[in-house]
Amino acid sequence: MADIAVPPVAEFRSASRIASIGVSKILMIGARAVARKREGRPVIVLGAGEPDFDTPENIKEAAKAAIDRGETKYTALDGSPELKKAVAEKFRRENGVDYAVDEITVATGAKQILFNAFMASIDPGDEVIIPTPYWTSYSDIIEICGGVPVLIPCDAASGFRLTADRLEKAITPKTKWVLLNSPSNPSGAAYGEADYRPLLDVLLRHPHVWLMVDDMYEHIVYDDFDFVTPVALEPALKSRALTINGVSKAYAMTGWRIGYAGGPKALIKAMAVIQSQATSCPSSVSQAAAIEALNGPQDFLADRKASFRRRRDLVVSALNKIDGIECRVPEGAFYTFASCKGMIGRTTPDGKRIESDTDFTDYLLETVDVAVVPGSAFGLSPYFRISYATSEAELTEALSRIAAASAALV
Ligand SMILES: Cc1ncc(COP(=O)(O)O)c(C=O)c1O
Repeated sequence: MADIAVPPVAEFRSASRIASIGVSKILMIGARAVARKREGRPVIVLGAGEPDFDTPENIKEAAKAAIDRGETKYTALDGSPELKKAVAEKFRRENGVDYAVDEITVATGAKQILFNAFMASIDPGDEVIIPTPYWTSYSDIIEICGGVPVLIPCDAASGFRLTADRLEKAITPKTKWVLLNSPSNPSGAAYGEADYRPLLDVLLRHPHVWLMVDDMYEHIVYDDFDFVTPVALEPALKSRALTINGVSKAYAMTGWRIGYAGGPKALIKAMAVIQSQATSCPSSVSQAAAIEALNGPQDFLADRKASFRRRRDLVVSALNKIDGIECRVPEGAFYTFASCKGMIGRTTPDGKRIESDTDFTDYLLETVDVAVVPGSAFGLSPYFRISYATSEAELTEALSRIAAASAALV
């Protein structure tokens, strides 16, 4: 028999839509921290984007009861009617915004809400304005969807907040969305009514621009900060706004994977089209748990918030005692985003010059086994993010190690 030439096996080549998307720096740091832990080193990881508390008992019980009732099948595509009703009531009760049930969508985490929304609305080249520092997933999702993230640096001097003149300058005929996140991951900065008002006035003057707001950390705000969502302040924007929220952070339910949003019916329907071919409905059991989270007792939130606030104060005060570090007091979330500008140009005991925030955070991991994330991972340098969703004892130890490592730089 004649030999048949077999063509060589083609090597894997990723699709161009993900060509510019690298492995997340946060994941890389996490992997390095885990590797060091495996070597037996006393690593403290201050990188977690999730509360260290457990999901409240009543929520777990609601999930168990749903299983026992046989609620283990597909539900309506983008959320059961009961959960959509609970979400609509939450928006009315807590935010003063009226969404009809068909203006609500539920997905497998707020991340899927973002993905559905961009996938359903972005054409190649459409621009999305994002103030930086920003949650890295935003730009990656936008790029996967063919859009162009337009990053506007908003440093500590501006309270890490976008201002009206910067927004005005960034808007072009190609702007599709402005994406605002308050309180913010990673900066913890939040927009009050007076911060939002001038931005909303700019948007009123540009009717082709849509507003996406990520209110994920709504319940984690401190002191007398008044949380407010833009659509409540400016109902005229409701017909071109998507208000995103979820149960992950407030109710310590990151693993349950439920996020939701309110928005105009046409957008909500288009998002359901994407979800229908990606994941179908979110987990039926998690939806039952989310109904209890939204409708059940809310009093535990105050205790958890008080605990986060003590940790925030501990971290901010310890950081500000370190020569070379400056930390603004964040209004919310469970992150600090401190400047390490004063460290740039200093030299480590083994003669290496600190040139960037990544050099500084690498140095902390390598010398004192504390893992924090450089600002460059969130689009703004030279800063570093600490997640204080961990015990006060661990935070105290980590901060004393950071202080010692910093003092050893000359
Ligand atoms: C600002 C922000 N939005 C959305 C999410 C996504 O939350 P989830 O997909 O767990 O609902 C996160 C998670 O870290 C976040 O920090």
